[in-house]
Amino acid sequence: MIRTVATIPFDGQKPGTSGLRKKVPAFQQPGYSENFIQAIFDCIDGREGSTLVVGGDGRYWNRETTELVIRMAAANGFARVIAGRDGILSTPAASNLIRKRTAIGGIILSASHNPGGPKEDFGIKYNTSNGGPAPEKVTEAIYSRTQTISQYRIADGGHIDLGKIGFANLGAMEVEVVDPVVDYAALMETLFDFDAIRAMFASGFAMRFDAMSAVTGPYAHEILENRLGAARGTVVNGTPLPDFGGHHPDPNLVHAKELYDLMMSPDAPDFGAASDGDGDRNLIIGKGIFVTPSDSLALLAANAHLAPGYAKGLAGIARSMPTSAAADRVAEKLGLPLFETPTGWKFFGNLLDAGKVTICGEESAGTGSDHVREKDGLWAVLLWLNILAVRKEPVKQIVEAHWREYGRNQYSRHDYEGVDSDAANALMRELRASLGRLGGRVIGDLVIETADEFSYHDPVDGSVSENQGVRILFKGGSRVVFRLSGTGTSGATLRVYLERFDGNPQTMFGETQAALADIITAADELAGIARHTGRNAPDVIT
Ligand code: G1P
Ligand code: ZN
Repeated sequence: MIRTVATIPFDGQKPGTSGLRKKVPAFQQPGYSENFIQAIFDCIDGREGSTLVVGGDGRYWNRETTELVIRMAAANGFARVIAGRDGILSTPAASNLIRKRTAIGGIILSASHNPGGPKEDFGIKYNTSNGGPAPEKVTEAIYSRTQTISQYRIADGGHIDLGKIGFANLGAMEVEVVDPVVDYAALMETLFDFDAIRAMFASGFAMRFDAMSAVTGPYAHEILENRLGAARGTVVNGTPLPDFGGHHPDPNLVHAKELYDLMMSPDAPDFGAASDGDGDRNLIIGKGIFVTPSDSLALLAANAHLAPGYAKGLAGIARSMPTSAAADRVAEKLGLPLFETPTGWKFFGNLLDAGKVTICGEESAGTGSDHVREKDGLWAVLLWLNILAVRKEPVKQIVEAHWREYGRNQYSRHDYEGVDSDAANALMRELRASLGRLGGRVIGDLVIETADEFSYHDPVDGSVSENQGVRILFKGGSRVVFRLSGTGTSGATLRVYLERFDGNPQTMFGETQAALADIITAADELAGIARHTGRNAPDVIT
């Protein structure tokens, strides 16, 4: 039976391209999630008779919302919903399913790397038929719809068993419950030399993968242990838990400290990696060496041809503006176009769809390629493994050889979290106002070459995105970038991105924070970080 029910007035938080993110209790208000889901459906032209994909990262409220999406889809004319078993789909696996099954779109339930649980974060996000996050004009349309909507449609009755793989019907709609791993693993087998990686594991290569009690557990067990023959126990925290075991499923040096400590110890295995809540981010650590995401992007681009899926070479490379210029040096040497985009994966979508780039990445631990339209944590891990299997050298040796060849972009991000929003806005406002006066200014040994605010002209659709971060370039290739986070849930987060290029093998192996010390001092002098925020040190250094 299909019912039409009144929605509750939507409180109007504007969902961005990472979807609607809120604490679980907000989504639990009767009619709240329903309002947003109905608004999404209302904005899908041609949904009658089409296929929708649904699944999420397994966090608290994932299963309930998966069922809700299915019931509402049945009442909104979809012909078929493809759902991951138990409501589980990693973000890249959902992107793949949308593409592979020519779905009209998909609903991904996740709050990425943020904590999960009854009082923690949840999210609902819509991806379009290319498998990527809905572009801004679609999210804007969804948002306006939430403001006018008064009713939603839902199919009552009938049983949905998300635990059982197979087909069922809900009214006139077919529900297909799929193994969340199978199609994704098959895609990985087309890109990478599984035989070579299997041989490497068979010869004693040891690895630890920390799934952080989040969605990549089942994927990593199947791909790394079952298919590639990594030793049992390679995957740790491999069972997705609704509260991620009480941890932040954020693969950085703070939240994956145990893995980092292991990799720096004498007992370190050859390779360490981790992924986040929904499986799109990655952390790469070799024995005795952390590989920054910016370096990882450059290294993957330089070596991608060693994997079968990229043997023909790359069309181009894209990186977000705050990501270090290490990839630029690779692009230059390989004669490839390099695109600099604003922060956020959505900007890569057009470039990937147009075939202008093959590989892209962000300093925030997101790397991916044209195989899907989301960043992909396990993909990055497998590309690394493929490269290691071919080159047969330790990670550290490969990274250091790369620096010797291309020079090293020493790089770090300093985050000031939970800053008073007014203070953070004032800091950015003053900084913007000062840009015209900064050229030529000398701070210690640094001389400012240019200072501007980044705006992006999309080469594919001609759209312009302004105010994408303040960047100050010093002579010699050093740089500091300031921007406010667009994903935080409380107060403001100021991100300060610091970078120094060092082409000298006598000095390039030095410790990162020490190498950046004068740029750190200059950043505070330029932006008045301590003065505005009252903080003398960042909360998180990555
Ligand atoms: C952060 C990262 C950005 C990433 C986004 C979504 O956004 O910095 O690179 O695309 O999360 O995962 P921010 O909080 O900086 O706006
Ligand atoms: Zn994520």
